[in-house]
Amino acid sequence: MSDLAIHGGPKSKTTPYSRPNRYGELEKRYVLEALDDAGLMMTNGSMVRRFEEAAAAAFDCRHVILTTSGTTALQTALVALGVCEGDEVITTAIADAGTFMSILAVHAVPVFADLHRDTVGPDPGSVEKLITPKTRAIINVHMAGIVGDMDRFLEISERHRIPLLEDCSQCHGGKWRGRCVGTMGRAGAFSMNESKHMSTGDGGFITTSDDAVARLARLYIDKTYSRGETRRGDEVLLFAAINARPNCLTGAVALAQLERLQENLAARDRIAQRYLAELAGLQHLRLPQIHPDAGCAWWPLPVLYSGNEPRRDEIAAALHAEGLEANSALSPTPGNLHQAVVKDRKYFAERDAIPHFLKDVEYDEWSCPVADEIARQVIRLPVDFRFTDQDIDETIAGIHKVWRHYFGE
Ligand SMILES: Cc1ncc(COP(=O)(O)O)c(C=O)c1O
Repeated sequence: MSDLAIHGGPKSKTTPYSRPNRYGELEKRYVLEALDDAGLMMTNGSMVRRFEEAAAAAFDCRHVILTTSGTTALQTALVALGVCEGDEVITTAIADAGTFMSILAVHAVPVFADLHRDTVGPDPGSVEKLITPKTRAIINVHMAGIVGDMDRFLEISERHRIPLLEDCSQCHGGKWRGRCVGTMGRAGAFSMNESKHMSTGDGGFITTSDDAVARLARLYIDKTYSRGETRRGDEVLLFAAINARPNCLTGAVALAQLERLQENLAARDRIAQRYLAELAGLQHLRLPQIHPDAGCAWWPLPVLYSGNEPRRDEIAAALHAEGLEANSALSPTPGNLHQAVVKDRKYFAERDAIPHFLKDVEYDEWSCPVADEIARQVIRLPVDFRFTDQDIDETIAGIHKVWRHYFGE
């Protein structure tokens, strides 16, 4: 007789996951300070600058530039790295759409590297094979807070003289040999939407220690206005740019969230370490393989289920029925190559015309087999800094219960 909840047995998770409001007195204090300041626009109030200075000190880089989202942070960084129309930018076959949409936004050609099973980020071997004379940047996405072998990426970037842009949206505060992610490549880009370690509801920022990159990034997010260096009326617009200026309310919340980051990371680490220790050795379950020099900034933990029977979706359904949050996707889509915007080059909302810079590009939807396998196998286990010990006890007990039922463990 099965005692699985999916067959009518008692649920493993007896209470909802604990998620109290992540914003508190600190955020309120800084938001009120921003409202009492000289204005909310970043050029009038001080909160955007205060966040940028505090974040540059925390991550140990020369510049932090706050923007409106992770996507605009990436887009801005690509422009600042000199990416032009028709250039190729290598990224990963599975990540949030914002990563490759930022490439399309600057009229560059996204090229998709296959994934690495240990990190679920881009495989450096696959990245290197895709380099051509047109490659102008490589985006290494630190997926799910897992830091892969950065030495490989840095070595490839240096040997081919192609700048590395680190997408740290899912990896705030992650480290490699003690250095923060986002500070090893020429630039880093972070999202602060509400699923992220630091959240401003929506928001993002760029990290760089390259003064020229920082200057271009600041110009790009502000229509290339020089802000004070030129008399109003005499502005000279330098190149086509956008408005991705953050305001001081975002700066205020970002500053408070930055101050909470280390505590947040420690709580996430305790949870992830429990999963890694207490789920090790379960049949057909592959846990991420972490390099000893990596300091991960855990996000929902992707594990790979490789059994044939039952199928992954049946396992996920059984876990859900137990009351567990177990998401069976690494990202919102099953993979970038399977989206019409990529495979059919469907660029415009209301027209089927293929833009000039994508005219000669062809995508093979099935060119990233590891990514497709990961999409079929992944189960994401919940990691949230607000969880209680009971949340994790019950989650791990529920996983063991499901495994006992199907595999007799
Ligand atoms: C890896 C990665 N890159 C980029 C983004 C885009 O960030 P945003 O939603 O802030 O534009 C996200 C957001 O989920 C992400 O996870």
